[in-house]
Amino acid sequence: LIAFFQPKLLAGRRVVVTAGPTFEALDPIRGITNHSSGKMGFAIARAAREAGAEVALIAGPVSLATPRGVRRVDVKSARQMLAATEAEIPQADVFVATAAVADWRPATESDQKIKKEGGGQPPVLTFTENPDILATVAQGARARSGELFCVGFAAESHDLVRNARAKRERKGVPLLVGNIGPVTFGQDDNQMLLVDAQGVQELPRASKLVLARQLVAEIARRRVPA
Ligand code: CTP
Ligand code: CA
Repeated sequence: LIAFFQPKLLAGRRVVVTAGPTFEALDPIRGITNHSSGKMGFAIARAAREAGAEVALIAGPVSLATPRGVRRVDVKSARQMLAATEAEIPQADVFVATAAVADWRPATESDQKIKKEGGGQPPVLTFTENPDILATVAQGARARSGELFCVGFAAESHDLVRNARAKRERKGVPLLVGNIGPVTFGQDDNQMLLVDAQGVQELPRASKLVLARQLVAEIARRRVPA
């Protein structure tokens, strides 16, 4: 009952979350993508909403229900995800990048289906690098002035602490959340490592929703009050 009357942790704050994979088209039928169920990002959007925030959830192709009270923007490619994110950032107080963005996209997208008939060689794919959404936002004026608190995620297959620390520096974000993939992909539970300027803190294995609520509390605690 007491908790009910306490002001919510993110009351009146605007939170933007990217979630899920991106899909980079090769032709109208095919493309390349990443492994990501979107569950962690959707849980964070839900937890932020429960904490009183206004939440915009920028979602790549996933099959998940939109958390109640959350505004969802569906996108496919990394470039669409960047554009949708940048449209939200001028109003945002917190940005949480959980999306598994494809690092590269096919250099050219055919407007017709590439056919195998003709007995020729299989096509050779060439790639170009996608924009880094988190790095772009973290280097923007709002993040650098401290008005926007940016949180990155890193799924690593090995050397989690070292890689997560390095990634935090490289992305220029105050908080980076590490987890060991691909064992957690699509699962309902997870285990997190929070890396900030102070050091490393572990959130023990729990459901993604429980971890999301803990992470939201950690973000609210770290965020500079307005
Ligand atoms: N990210 C992003 N845009 C990209 C790539 C990554 O916003 N084009 C974000 C992810 O949402 C995540 C963080 O950056 O929050 C780290 O993503 P990750 O793939 O682990 O890092 P990369 O810098 O792409 O490095 P690598 O894949 O080589 O480990
Ligand atoms: Ca990557």
